[in-house]
Amino acid sequence: MSVRLATSSQETAAAPATLTFTDAVLALRALVANDLTAVNEQILERMDSSVALIPDLAGHLVNAGGKRIRPMLTLAAARLFGYDGDHHVKLAAAVELIHGATLLHDDVVDGSALRRGAQTANIIWGNKESVLVGDFIFSRAFELMVAAGDLRVLQVLSRASGVIAEGEVLQLTTQNNLDTDFETYISVIEAKTAALFAGASHAGAIIAGADEDQVAALRDYGRFFGVAYQLIDDALDYAGFEDSLGKAVGDDFREGKMTLPVVYAVARAKPDEKSFWRRVIAENRRDDGDLEQALTYMERDDAIADTIACGRRYAERALNALGKAPQNAFSAALADLVATSLARAS
Ligand code: IPE
Ligand code: IPE
Ligand code: MG
Ligand code: MG
Repeated sequence: MSVRLATSSQETAAAPATLTFTDAVLALRALVANDLTAVNEQILERMDSSVALIPDLAGHLVNAGGKRIRPMLTLAAARLFGYDGDHHVKLAAAVELIHGATLLHDDVVDGSALRRGAQTANIIWGNKESVLVGDFIFSRAFELMVAAGDLRVLQVLSRASGVIAEGEVLQLTTQNNLDTDFETYISVIEAKTAALFAGASHAGAIIAGADEDQVAALRDYGRFFGVAYQLIDDALDYAGFEDSLGKAVGDDFREGKMTLPVVYAVARAKPDEKSFWRRVIAENRRDDGDLEQALTYMERDDAIADTIACGRRYAERALNALGKAPQNAFSAALADLVATSLARAS
């Protein structure tokens, strides 16, 4: 179907058309390579426990890969301001641990079977195991934040953890609710995704001792990037490919999630099509072929294209915020990451 987001050239904000999101991730990774190695060591160290299930289950998630975007935001935000200490490594590891704990919980809540190209922990070990190990990882993240020794950062990241949980709960209350509007949807993704992106870059700028305006610029960069990132993710849940995503396509539909493609499709449906959306989303009754039917409506009504367009507007806000920070190799890599993310496939 032409609606699928297979190529990388169709939607970019500022990056050269030839640069893909994968290129931008690799370029940023190369820039913070030593720091990121130290982050990965910290993560493995903090997952350790004499209760074997904990490192087994947590190790499964960590070793399955993951792009490490959030910890790289922290590392690059600190380096961007010339930071040469090592507390940013602890904070970046804490950020990725918070993300990992959230994913374990999220896959239970969403009943997901595939993550990072591997079976999810909830499928391999079970829901109870995933929830409890997720709790353990959260607590290890907090230990690391405390070890970094900066109360302001501790406040930023502990607040972000609570906001993520709020976002997940708010989303649960909108599930199967066809009346969910654009503003509510944005509130959900601001909380469940953008709060940690913002916390990640904010923490890096704070630990580096950047001045107030620049700390705020890095916070805003992360926030707007996070919203754009989730918007694209929600488009990819309909129009992406499982192989590159490492996650199942159609999970949101099967759960009756009110993501923006559905919000747009429902608002634009013809009177005789409303019953389709009522059945598949509100009444949770889906048959073979319904996902394809939903995609057909979405394509006709530009529901996916307009979700990406909304992502582009947030990406532009992220780039504007970043424009207030010093311009160097780190800020350039952060800018490319946002710009290319609009056409990402993974
Ligand atoms: C997945 O985040 C959760 C979302 C906010 C969409 P990532 O796409 O960063 O996942 P990993 O860490 O690379 O697996
Ligand atoms: C990701 O949310 C988890 C959080 C941001 C808390 P989703 O449920 O939308 O993302 P995937 O598709 O499982 O990665
Ligand atoms: Mg999920
Ligand atoms: Mg979810």
